[in-house]
Amino acid sequence: MTGSWDSVWRQADIATMAATGEDGFGAIHNGAIAIKNGRIAWIGPAAELPKDGIGPHTAMHDLNGGWITPGLIDCHTHLVYGGNRAHEFELRLNGASYEEIARAGGGIRSTVTATRAASEDELIRQGEKRLRALLAEGVTTIEIKSGYGLDLDNELKCLRVARRLGEQHPVRVRTTLLAAHALPPEYAADADGYIDLVCDRIIPAAAQAGLADAVDAFCEGIGFTPEQTRRVFEAARRHNLPVKLHAEQLSNLGGAALAAAFGALSADHLEYLDEAGVQAMAKAGTVAVLLPGAFYMLRETQLPPIDLLRRHGVAMAVSTDCNPGTSPVTSLLLMLSMACTLFRLTPAEALAGMTRQAARALGLQGEAGTLEVGKTADFVVWDIDRPAALAYQVGLNPMRQVVFAGRPLPR
Ligand code: NIG
Ligand code: FE
Repeated sequence: MTGSWDSVWRQADIATMAATGEDGFGAIHNGAIAIKNGRIAWIGPAAELPKDGIGPHTAMHDLNGGWITPGLIDCHTHLVYGGNRAHEFELRLNGASYEEIARAGGGIRSTVTATRAASEDELIRQGEKRLRALLAEGVTTIEIKSGYGLDLDNELKCLRVARRLGEQHPVRVRTTLLAAHALPPEYAADADGYIDLVCDRIIPAAAQAGLADAVDAFCEGIGFTPEQTRRVFEAARRHNLPVKLHAEQLSNLGGAALAAAFGALSADHLEYLDEAGVQAMAKAGTVAVLLPGAFYMLRETQLPPIDLLRRHGVAMAVSTDCNPGTSPVTSLLLMLSMACTLFRLTPAEALAGMTRQAARALGLQGEAGTLEVGKTADFVVWDIDRPAALAYQVGLNPMRQVVFAGRPLPR
């Protein structure tokens, strides 16, 4: 042991989410976590805590009950945008479909207009309201996509806002360039021309500025074709950026298999995924990101093929998809509950979906998502008597304390 620990947290049960042991939570009853330099230096049953790690400057935190989980990871959000689309929500409830509204120039494009008009500071102000709501429920890592700028300057603007949010708040931000989200009005009749812009200018510029950690696209009838998506992925590969894909949300275009062929970190939504797509994902180790908020808001009835994903051993993550159109959701705990009730995930699968598997969907599995020695000390203390209570109680936030990179955050 080199010097004593900075802090020790004990007298709580711990869902490490590490081992896929019998309970699915990797539970340690009456456990302890020791922290050194922001990382987990020791974790195990409190009774086995080595005494020689505790020095005169080690801060001892006795929790007196509750459960500790890894900090939650929201691995698919469109958190940075201008305006809102409550009006379209109303139109949908009066009979219009999401696709009809999109084809009539509303949908994503109406958010593009509001996002382009907003300054960076204004986008920060709007985005941080949503971010604060997520952090209040124990999120310590979040992915934020661009995709409402749809030109060089505005896509980079949104990615800068995402990075700044990460600098100004106690949260790890991973950014994803989603320039191929929708066709901007100035390219209305020229989707291939827009994809040229994405591949030749926007991806290279984002990569060069270090503003994107990954590249995503929307492969769909109202988005881009598989061939256009392939071009985006090839450009991402040229710049050493990993890819992800909005795939099989409204129809089956084979997007997930295409993503898997590029070794994608994840394919997301997946309501219309078929077995061939599941197999391709299993082979490539591509994570299935399930988004119950969008399923709920669109009143979708086609379920993602959960049993097939399970049977083929595809890792399932769960996220908010926080966006103004299909999922104006800023509660990851609500998604935990909906993943169980709507998608029939077990509480252990759903919690793994916003910890261990969500980390994989971001390529962060070496760093976050489980409580293990060497990983960053991001965790949450909850006032619950079993982990399933997080999914069971809707609207009651049992969060007591967040520790981010070893530091306890003020509540
Ligand atoms: O993840 N599917 C495409 N993108 C978003 C919706 C964006 C919007 O409607 O603004 C989604 O559901
Ligand atoms: Fe999305």
